[in-house]
Amino acid sequence: ATNRTFTMIKPDAVEKGHIGGILSMITEAGFRIVSLKLTQLTVADAQEFYAVHAERPFYGELVSFMSRGPIVAAILEKDNAVEDFRKLIGATNPANAEEGTIRKKYATSMGENAVHGSDSDENAAIEGAFHFAGREQF
Ligand code: CMP
Repeated sequence: ATNRTFTMIKPDAVEKGHIGGILSMITEAGFRIVSLKLTQLTVADAQEFYAVHAERPFYGELVSFMSRGPIVAAILEKDNAVEDFRKLIGATNPANAEEGTIRKKYATSMGENAVHGSDSDENAAIEGAFHFAGREQF
């Protein structure tokens, strides 16, 4: 069924000038852009967004990385969006990411891995609503 996922182009990829390249890979893979903006997470936003990882050893590093500069936030729509988008982005660790994935091409490291993709339909809805009002969803 057609459904939605949520993505962020993370600060590392924005800093390196990869917004256009990543959006091209996304649209060429058949995703429709429902919502799109350049924005920046505050420390408090990043803490809330990644609250599920609060007990992990890398939480502090993750929060400071994700709030250090602008990101691109987007809601995407496609058949089987959540699963297909996670295939398109590739493994969390770019060393394990397959050829043709966004992380293979653009990620720097396990932490600075260029893109986020929601892990479930439920989280996609929560994460999309975190960034976009109803009138910003097309
Ligand atoms: P993502 O899977 O999008 O969301 C959780 C993020 O935590 C992950 O991307 C990485 O950016 C980060 N992360 C996961 N594992 C590690 C790790 N071992 N060290 C540093 N950051 C990590």
